[in-house]
Amino acid sequence: MPPLKICFVSSEVVPFVKAGGLGDVSGALGKYLSRKGHDIRVFMPYYSSIDTRSLPVQVVEFLQNVPVHFGGFTLYFTALTAKLPDSECEVYFIHCEGLYNRSKIYTDEGDEYLRFALLSRAAIECCQRMGWGPDIFHCNDWQTALIPLYLKTIYQWDGLFKQSKTVLTIHNIGYQGMFSAEAVDKLMFGGYRHMLPPEDLGAGMINYLKLGIIYTDLITTVSPTYAQEIQTAEYGSGLHQMLEYRKYRLAGILNGVDYHEWSPENDPYIPHKYSMEDFSGKEKNKKALLERMDLPYDPDAPVYGIISRLTWQKGFELLYEVLGDILSNYELRFVVLGSGEDKYTRFFQSARDQFPGKLAFYNGYHIELSHWIEAGSDMFVMPSRYEPCGLNQIYSLKYGTVPIVRKTGGLADTVQLYDWVTQAGTGFVFEYFNGDSLRWAIDYAFNTFHNKAAWQKIMHNGMAQNFSWEVQVEKYIELYEKLKSW
Ligand code: ADP
Ligand code: GLC
Repeated sequence: MPPLKICFVSSEVVPFVKAGGLGDVSGALGKYLSRKGHDIRVFMPYYSSIDTRSLPVQVVEFLQNVPVHFGGFTLYFTALTAKLPDSECEVYFIHCEGLYNRSKIYTDEGDEYLRFALLSRAAIECCQRMGWGPDIFHCNDWQTALIPLYLKTIYQWDGLFKQSKTVLTIHNIGYQGMFSAEAVDKLMFGGYRHMLPPEDLGAGMINYLKLGIIYTDLITTVSPTYAQEIQTAEYGSGLHQMLEYRKYRLAGILNGVDYHEWSPENDPYIPHKYSMEDFSGKEKNKKALLERMDLPYDPDAPVYGIISRLTWQKGFELLYEVLGDILSNYELRFVVLGSGEDKYTRFFQSARDQFPGKLAFYNGYHIELSHWIEAGSDMFVMPSRYEPCGLNQIYSLKYGTVPIVRKTGGLADTVQLYDWVTQAGTGFVFEYFNGDSLRWAIDYAFNTFHNKAAWQKIMHNGMAQNFSWEVQVEKYIELYEKLKSW
């Protein structure tokens, strides 16, 4: 098979920028696809937060001040390039000072619709100027979901893309990119109103993700269970009927993990390395973590870790119901790292104030600390309302940090409930979104922790799991190949 040509467009790419798992996935797919010999070129914005001191970026001679015409105005971008670390994958940064020089990568500002429309168009314009017709345009989330429609409208004249197919990966259907229909002309869709959903135009809006779902050749999402769930009213955020209609073009591929980055054997951030054969280093990491977070160490008190964006999706309301009682009555510790909405930060701050020796909370984004928590906790808590895939529970398995998760999306696909009779299973899984169910899982984990043999077994079961990108990337390749020959 000749190498595939893949134009991969994403608003986050690790190690350059990351708000959540999208960044991890984009960086890993770039690296692993290029290692398999494919010609993958990654396009992302050149946000002002990207640290250029350690990054040898170069301006691309023939991609300077490229004009992109929108309805009534023109934007200009310059492309810079750098290689993804440890790979030959070329990343193209779209530099447009006026749009990407902001304090945050996502904003509520009036030109948000344009910031990512430009990214989508710039990726296409770069391909044109490179004379490079990709086999696949791989789009991710609403930010790049206009690409299929752009290819079918204003770029339809270009024979370079005649054979190109499009894939749209939904990492999170909760964010759709909904803007006022006033944007339609500016986006250059004025002459193509018949291609926009009339119900949206009637409501005075445009929905980027929906347009992607309608016009892409193939939709993927990041776990098989989530692929099913988004076809239901409960999880589809209003797009379930559209997805049900396109279900034969919808596939669920579980995310992988880059074990070079997330494995206790070679994690450069953690103070003590350990492995499945010898996990003595784990207890030392626990001590170090507790010391760092100013909590007293007690080998019999399990540490429950949390690392998360603090949003509605993640289900922390369930902790409102159970945390006070658990912290009052059990000898345990909670270490929480997160940033996001005020109501959740206030909740964790007040729990910290009320139980200073039992709960520590770091409000912010801290990569090193996230690795320490994975290595130093005994358990990891994710009570998500919905979870397209989730990465931290998969990292946790490798670190022998037993996940406590709700049975939804990728959590259901990656963690199996521990059965104390057969000793099979890798974590504590509860089904219903209510406090009693979470409490049951926390109690079950707490009691099992005090049975050392059972605990070693469950840690071992988890550490033996393999969710490597090495394996998962083959599923994307298979899909691309199929699509190419359609
Ligand atoms: P989501 O993409 O919905 O946020 P995932 O579990 O897929 O959820 O990925 C989250 C990623 O972001 C993980 O790599 C996690 O370690 C990281 N992360 C989330 N919050 C923080 C934080 N406050 N500090 C450091 N890393 C974080
Ligand atoms: C999203 C989801 C998360 C998933 C990540 C990467 O942000 O919330 O579950 O793991 O994307 O696909």
